[in-house]
Parts: sequence; structure tokens; C-alpha cells
Amino acid sequence: MILRNAWLQRLLGGGAAERLGIRMASLLEYASLRAHKDPDVLQHIRRSRWKRKTLVTFNEAYMVNSLAASVAGMPGDLAEVGVYEGSTARLLCEQKGDAALHLFDTFEGLPAGVLKSEQVMYRPHQYSCSLESVQEFLSDFADVHFYKGYFPDSAASLPAGRRFSFVHFDVDLYQSTLDCLKFFYPQMLPSGIMLSHDYSILEGVRQAFTEFLTDKPENLIELPTTQCMLVKR
Ligand SMILES: C[S@@+](CC[C@H](N)C(=O)[O-])C[C@H]1O[C@@H](n2cnc3c(N)ncnc32)[C@H](O)[C@@H]1O
Repeated sequence: MILRNAWLQRLLGGGAAERLGIRMASLLEYASLRAHKDPDVLQHIRRSRWKRKTLVTFNEAYMVNSLAASVAGMPGDLAEVGVYEGSTARLLCEQKGDAALHLFDTFEGLPAGVLKSEQVMYRPHQYSCSLESVQEFLSDFADVHFYKGYFPDSAASLPAGRRFSFVHFDVDLYQSTLDCLKFFYPQMLPSGIMLSHDYSILEGVRQAFTEFLTDKPENLIELPTTQCMLVKR
């Protein structure tokens, strides 16, 4: 429960200490995974983190990669809200095959308007990275679409009638998480996966899932990382 501690989160949130913590955890996780996982998969995850800042640990990246791979062959698009420098987006690019991938971010960091109580921990524009930098990082991949601006407003330009097999939320905030759930849930294919980062450590993310699921038939699956997922019925 130590990582849920508000004081610790305030101290570590967003700075060099947070990055160092993620790096140290990832080194240990990578060392452990090397003992039993396919080296090619590990190498491919390492490439997605090469020279990019990321907020996900190695095990979390592994989950993103495996779950995105698990929907291969399903019809439907993939999406991510919360792209930052594009590390997890690159994993989706590698796993998506011929499917379209839709990437949503302000590309100017966390939106100031919805920080509210989370303000103690985050600064407006924290985790900012330019759209051009992410486009360059993902330039080898086809059918990748970028939506710059505040989500869900930015989704107005998403072509109508899209259905999704896999969506990844990594938005840190209560309102952003709730908006992701409200927007994508009705558009998920049966058996489609909604994966979120930070469920077990960020109160706002947890609250958004709890509220949203009150009148839904799906049960939340908590993963051993900070992540959680839903499988659409
Ligand atoms: C923790 S970072 C994402 C980390 C990333 N997935 C990785 O690979 O490390 C959170 C991102 O969410 C974005 N964000 C949060 N709420 C948003 C919203 N309502 N609309 C657009 N972007 C949002 C921020 O701009 C930031 O880039």
C-alpha cells in the first residue's frame, strides 16, 4: 500500500525520483523475466523504451504487449489515450497487424482544467511531449492516427462507426479516466479489452472505474501490476 500514500506520491510524482523508481523496478522485472520469457519479446519491449521517457514499468509494458497481441485476428481498431512520449503506443503499433490505431493526447501534458484534487500531485502540462516527436518515433508504422487535444473533445474527428478490439488508458486523472470509459465502452466489440494503467495506485483512476462499473455487467480484473482490465461482454 506504500505506493498509494498521497505524501509519497506528491514527493515522487512526475520528477526525476519517479523516473528513477520506474527504472529501478524495471531493471529488476527485466532480470526476472529474462529467466523464463522469450528473448525476442523482451528485446522488442526494450526497443519501445529506448531513449523515451515512460511511466510504465517493464512488467506493465509486458502486459500491454501481451494483451494487445491477444486480440490479433479480431476485427476492430486499437486505441490509446495518454501517449506521452509514445512508449506504450509503440507496443500497440508492433502488435496491431493491419488494424488501425488511434492515439489521443493533448501532446501538451496533463490538461489543467480537470486536475482538481489531483492538483497536489500533478502540475498542469506535466508529461508533455510534442506530437511531432511521437510521430517521428512511430513513423515506421502504417494506419496510425493522431488526435491532438483534450479528450474526449478530440475524438470528434474520429470517423463514425469505429469498433474497438483493444483500448489502453493511461491518463492519470479521475475525469480523463471516466471520459475514456464512457466513450469507448459502447464501442467495444464483444471480448474486446479495456486496459488501464495506475488503477491500484491512483485514487482518481480507481474511483472512475468503481463509479462507471456500478450498472455494468462486466467484472473488473485487477492485475499484479498497477493495471486493471475489463473484457467487454
Ligand atoms: C502518464 S502519461 C502516459 C504515459 C505513456 N502511456 C507511456 O508510454 O509512458 C499521461 C498522458 O495522459 C495525457 N492526458 C491525460 N488526460 C488527458 C485528456 N483528457 N486528454 C488528452 N490527453 C490527456 C497527458 O497529456 C499525458 O501525456
